[in-house]
Amino acid sequence: MTAYWESTAPGAGRRPARADAPSDARVLSLNGTWRFRLAPTAAGTGAGFVTDGFDDSGWDEMRVPSHWVLEEFTPLAGGPRRSMKGTAEGPLYTNTAYPIPLDPPHVSTENPTGDYRLEFELPDDWGDSTVLRFQGVDSCAKVWLNGTELGWSTGSRLPFELDAPVRPGRNVLAVRVHRWSSGTYLEDQDMWWLPGIFRDVELIERPPGAIDDHHVHADYDHESGTGALRVDATTEAVVEIPELGIRMAAGETARVPVEPWSAEVPRLYRGTLRSAGERVELAIGFRHVEIVDGVFTVNGRPVTFRGVNRHEHHPDTGRTLDRETMVQDIVAMKRANVDAVRTSHYPPHPEFLRLCDEYGLWVLEECDLETHGFIYAGWEKNPPADPAWRDALLDRVRRMVERDKNHPSVVIWSLANESWTGETFSVLRQWVADRDPSRPVLYERDPSYRDSDFYSLMYPSLEDLDRIGRRAEDTPDGVTAAEDERRRSLPFLLVEYAHAMGNGPGSLQDYRRIMLEHDRICGGFVWEWIDLGINAVTADGTAHVMHGEDIDYEPCGGRFNLDGLLFSDRTPTPALAELAKAYEPVRVTVGSDHVLVDNLRHTTDTADLRFTWALADDGEPVADGTLDVPAVGAGGQGRVAVPVPTRQARGTLVLTVEARTATDAAWAQAGHVVAWGQRIVSEPPVRSLPRRSDAGSRAPGGDDVTLGPGTFDAATGRLVRLGDLALDGPVLDVHRAPTENDHGQGDLNDLASVWSATGLDRMLHRTDLVDRGDDHLRVAGRTAPTTHAHGVDWTMLWQADGDALVLTVDVEPTGPWADTPHRHRDIWLPRLGLRLSLPAAYARARWFGRGPGETYVDSFEGSRLGTFDRAVDDLQTPYPVPQENGNHVQTRWLELTGQDVPPLRVDGVDGHPTFDFTARRWTSHDLQRARKPHDLRDSGRVWLNLDHRQQGIGSASVGPALPERYRVPRERTTWSVRLQAG
Ligand code: GAL
Repeated sequence: MTAYWESTAPGAGRRPARADAPSDARVLSLNGTWRFRLAPTAAGTGAGFVTDGFDDSGWDEMRVPSHWVLEEFTPLAGGPRRSMKGTAEGPLYTNTAYPIPLDPPHVSTENPTGDYRLEFELPDDWGDSTVLRFQGVDSCAKVWLNGTELGWSTGSRLPFELDAPVRPGRNVLAVRVHRWSSGTYLEDQDMWWLPGIFRDVELIERPPGAIDDHHVHADYDHESGTGALRVDATTEAVVEIPELGIRMAAGETARVPVEPWSAEVPRLYRGTLRSAGERVELAIGFRHVEIVDGVFTVNGRPVTFRGVNRHEHHPDTGRTLDRETMVQDIVAMKRANVDAVRTSHYPPHPEFLRLCDEYGLWVLEECDLETHGFIYAGWEKNPPADPAWRDALLDRVRRMVERDKNHPSVVIWSLANESWTGETFSVLRQWVADRDPSRPVLYERDPSYRDSDFYSLMYPSLEDLDRIGRRAEDTPDGVTAAEDERRRSLPFLLVEYAHAMGNGPGSLQDYRRIMLEHDRICGGFVWEWIDLGINAVTADGTAHVMHGEDIDYEPCGGRFNLDGLLFSDRTPTPALAELAKAYEPVRVTVGSDHVLVDNLRHTTDTADLRFTWALADDGEPVADGTLDVPAVGAGGQGRVAVPVPTRQARGTLVLTVEARTATDAAWAQAGHVVAWGQRIVSEPPVRSLPRRSDAGSRAPGGDDVTLGPGTFDAATGRLVRLGDLALDGPVLDVHRAPTENDHGQGDLNDLASVWSATGLDRMLHRTDLVDRGDDHLRVAGRTAPTTHAHGVDWTMLWQADGDALVLTVDVEPTGPWADTPHRHRDIWLPRLGLRLSLPAAYARARWFGRGPGETYVDSFEGSRLGTFDRAVDDLQTPYPVPQENGNHVQTRWLELTGQDVPPLRVDGVDGHPTFDFTARRWTSHDLQRARKPHDLRDSGRVWLNLDHRQQGIGSASVGPALPERYRVPRERTTWSVRLQAG
């Protein structure tokens, strides 16, 4: 006989799936401290643990809900209860690979199984009929109550309910949870494998006449402004919405004028559905979702999602989230102008959707289904293509739709992620179409898109996305002409883009601009919201953020679970500011004599925003005021005159216009900035290059050469003293510590391994010439790696400029940089710049440019122009995997200060007014070598990079190659900077 955990059946003994809604039915939460024992196989601890009298006093205490692998427990080998993080008994991370042999529906005999026990007292006045609900158990659970088996279930992120014949007084609940089961084959979602009873467990009283299920149909006609409401119920019941004057029987329809629900204005009408036995809370949002002529619309207007993909994650509790954490996510999303969430790759805790209804987020809800690992079998026996799995798949879709059908926030159902093709998708889609015709269906991975109302892809290049927008994309392989024609007529939904792994992503603005240009594109969802790192400690007690590579286990998904816009502890990465800018619902463009306000919202005008302006002179506020912008309708544009007084400025005058919320909202107090624009009004003349006579030429005598305030080493030509400052450098620097995106994906776009293979990370320098002229010093040489013939020829021309030095650098890459004779490599320079070694005493940086966060050539628009002041230590972004960070593009001047060292000032020079800088206490090599932030040590120097350019960041860790316009051109280049100390 097939063991239940290896059966393709989804479960047994469960009640029909139904809507999840708050009601007045009494609930007894069974969350709390349970008893727990881990066993090596599916046999668990044996048959006895279900019995009343079983002695579990020697078992571990286990918090429910939780994932046991994130808690302390007695491991299989025995010994003290402890954390097993970092071992195969702890959390495991794989990407596409299954942690079981690919032999569906079987699993290995090694199958860690947790037996859970709970004794609880039933209140004396508890009723006769009871349902036991599990909101989520990973991956397969069998349940006994007072020794009687009630049923079993798979489908980790979906609820199941059992009839529970509870008895007065003491009851004993026993649950056996298998880490692996047939369900594992359907849950290969590139995330931590985290077994356990990880969502709430509750007993719900079912009085006679209770409402088993209800279905809210709340449509909206945008032309008449009428809402149509019908609430179906499984029993006789009355619908009451006092605000709308509705009191009617379930099943009847009311038509009333209403305000529609949207993510912008999440208008909910509260009411009740009351039967003889129960009162269910209703939160009705009227809205109409429809695809019209290939354009996705809600309430008659196109929607362009400003989306993110969200896994449920907490660095301590995994996918067990409390309400506060859910609210924290939603508030952070709203503040970053995000208006849509894809619940990748499974239905979230039901409370999250209630919050989305309330706060206003469009939800693309995805079913708990991914079979990605069948790729290792060439997709043979893929469950969607095997009728034996049909019930299991249908069960999952049914449980999602039934649970969440009443949420206005849910506007699209996604059948699955990355599960290739199979006939069962048509069955699923048909089932959804019959049960809920009010929402379209998405399935991204089948190239025919026959079971999807959307054409959809992940991670296209900018060019490809633009082609798609114009409906001019290539035809996918293996599809019929009819399928292709149908697909071309569909709206396009960018289900994942901009892989936010490590430092990045770049091009958020580029993607957004293309999305807004084409009606066909209904927006996109960044991958992903939060890093999925887990808090852990090393053997010597150092706290760190654990990723796949920290675990002694194969297969290993590596570091790919650290790819969020937030760090694992929910502090935003610099990418969130960039996203907030790209996702601005209103665009503010500051012209020379006017401000343009483009309202990119779905339906709301700008009456809820206050516009202010502020003028700053080198960062010092000098004037401000409000701007009277008449309300601009959705899709419209307003234009107002710039009120700025003309005035004499000391430095760079920057005008900033902000659009702020006028009133408090649930997610931000009044005054929250939703959009801003800037313009440089005037700037002081950029310092000119000193005149040069080119006269004189003499080889230096002695050890040192001097020029103006500078003293140079006669042999190397390097600056060793500037005024009173002892320093060393600059050397030509063409290396950066690879970012995750520089590593590309597998063999694809792996720039970093080319840099290592071709020596870019260990360049040697040669000085050929140190020539002191009458008014200049010319130093020339070559910077090149060992072994190879490529290199960079350079000349550094130093000129005195009062008590400063002006340095003009002229570089020319020589030798084979592209299509190298050995292995035909294409070598790109990650940076072209200068590195100086400064005394450790430099502690603060002030600069005028973009800030305060890090910026790169393809991600700076979310950082303002202004004067910023930061501690050198705070210039580093603490990526959990050390990599290049902390750059600042478009810097006009920089001042470094510290105790007992003269201030060091760097300025752009006429013709080269800006530069990039980074300053840190360790070198790029240290950053490259470090595996964890705690490996980084103060080197005793401050390393200052003054760069002509660094290449952009991109998102090639999963995605297209970095566009060429964001790379460093491999051509002769000249630039200048001015250095002054004291
Ligand atoms: C997608 C997948 C996500 C994640 C992402 C890369 O293919 O749907 O789950 O794996 O790539 O991080």
